Amino acid sequence: MHELLRSIEAAMRAYFGSDQRRIDHALRVAGFAEEILKSEKGDRLVVIATAILHDIGIREAERKFASSAGNLQEQEGPPVAREILTGLGLAEAVIDEVCEIIGSHHSPGEVDTDNFRIIWDADWLVNLGDEFDLTDSDKTRGMIAKIFQTVTGKGLAERIYL
Ligand SMILES: [Fe+2]
Repeated sequence: MHELLRSIEAAMRAYFGSDQRRIDHALRVAGFAEEILKSEKGDRLVVIATAILHDIGIREAERKFASSAGNLQEQEGPPVAREILTGLGLAEAVIDEVCEIIGSHHSPGEVDTDNFRIIWDADWLVNLGDEFDLTDSDKTRGMIAKIFQTVTGKGLAERIYL
């Protein structure tokens, strides 16, 4: 793994501390993002850094608003991510793009880039299995068709959940 990505993962683990559920979620999303990157084009540093940090705003959202609502995570995540990434010496352009995606990661259409689509699909590959009842395969098929934005993400979802 890229040296910087290892450092970002360590920073995310330190930030979430004993919240193993959040750490696991971030790492599972990063794993799916790696998988998607094998056949979709995207910038690996931007994509994996974003995957690791995409939900980093949740702690501030819960602390300030006692809520983990998607829009609050989008609002609170970028400043935390920026601080972590600046501390690790990442290039400004990379930090800006990571923060832009984190700030819209529940809002499809706001950021129209390949990197965004990979994050979107990787997060959904985890959340579909964790948060939805997938016993009705016709319904699941319909959801997959509607949600996924890359051919690879859609293919993975069909393979895993149908
Ligand atoms: Fe997520």
